[in-house]
Amino acid sequence: MVTIRQGMMKDCTDLLEVYQGTRWFYRTIPGGYTTVEQVKDEHIGAAFERWGWLVAEEKGKVIGEIVFRAEKNPVSGKVGIIRNLDIDVRNQKTTIGTKLTRAAEEVLRKKRVVRVVATTPPAAYNYWMKVKYFARGSIMNISISTVKIPKMRTPKVKTVQLKDVRKLPTSMKFSHIAYPGSLAELAATLIDGDLKGNLMEYYSEERLVGVGVVAQIDAKTAAFAADVTKRGLAVADIVISRTAGFPLKWKAKKVISMIPKDHLGVFTSSAKWAYELSTDIPVTRLL
Ligand SMILES: CC(C)(COP(=O)(O)OP(=O)(O)OC[C@H]1O[C@@H](n2cnc3c(N)ncnc32)[C@H](O)[C@@H]1OP(=O)(O)O)[C@@H](O)C(=O)NCCC(=O)NCCS
Repeated sequence: MVTIRQGMMKDCTDLLEVYQGTRWFYRTIPGGYTTVEQVKDEHIGAAFERWGWLVAEEKGKVIGEIVFRAEKNPVSGKVGIIRNLDIDVRNQKTTIGTKLTRAAEEVLRKKRVVRVVATTPPAAYNYWMKVKYFARGSIMNISISTVKIPKMRTPKVKTVQLKDVRKLPTSMKFSHIAYPGSLAELAATLIDGDLKGNLMEYYSEERLVGVGVVAQIDAKTAAFAADVTKRGLAVADIVISRTAGFPLKWKAKKVISMIPKDHLGVFTSSAKWAYELSTDIPVTRLL
C-alpha cells in the first residue's frame, strides 16, 4: 500500500537514494548527490513551502516526492509550480508519479490555483502527456554581452535595491512576462546565500512596476530574471535593461536568462540578445 503524506526532514535519508537514481541527467550538483545534507538543503530556504512537499511511502520507505509552490500572475490568476517530481527508479511506472501529481493538484486547488506548470526534460515528456498536461510554448535561453545593454537612465523609473532580505519578498512571488518561478528561484539562491548578487524593485510614481534579480554565476557570467506588473509593461525595456546591466559593476562579460518564447519580443526590442531554444519543455494543466 502506498501512502501519500506531507514530507518531513527525516525523509531526506530515503530521498537521497531516490535522487541518486533520478537526478543524474537533469540536475547539476557537481559529482551528483552524495550526502543527506544536500537533500536537506533543497527542503529549506526561501523558495521552499512546507505545504508544497508530499512524499509517497511504501512499507516504511519513501519512494517518491513532489515539491511545488504557487505564485500570482496578474493576467491568468494563481499559478502552481511543480518544482520537482522524482520516483525511485525501482518503482517507476507503477502509478506513484500520477498519485503524487494528483495529490499536489488537490493541495494547489485548495489554494485557489487555477493552472499548474512543470518544466520537463524530454525524457519525462510522455509522462506529463499521460497525466493530461499539455505542452505550452517553449523556453528560450537568452544571452548578451554586458556592454551591449542600453543604460536607460531616466527619472521615470526608480530602482530600489533590497538589502538584508531573509525571505522571498512578496513582490517576487509573482510572474507575468517572466518564466513562472524563475524570479523566485533565482532570488532564493541569493537569499539562501548560494550565490552573490542583487535584488531590485522598480517604482514609477511610487507604485511598483517591476522586479529584478541578478546573480553571479562565475567570474564572467551573471544570470538574471526580471518581470513587470501590468502597469509596468510600458517600462519593461527599462526594468529588463537595468536588471541585466547590473553585473557591469562586477565586470561580468555576459548575462544570461531563461524566458518564455512568447515574450522574446519584449526582451529583444531594446537590445540585441542572442537566443536559443531550451531542450526543457514547459507543460501545463488547468485545474
Ligand atoms: C517521470 C516520472 C516522474 C514518472 O513517474 P511514474 O511513477 O513512473 O509514472 P506513472 O507510473 O504514474 O505513469 C503514468 C503513465 O505515464 C507513463 N510514463 C511514465 N514515465 C514515462 C516516461 N519516462 N516515458 C513515457 N511514458 C512514461 C507510464 O507508463 C504510465 O502510462 P499508462 O497510464 O499508459 O500506464 C518518473 O519516471 C521519474 O521520477 N523520472 C525521473 C525524474 C524526472 O524526470 N521527473 C520529472 C521532472 S519534471
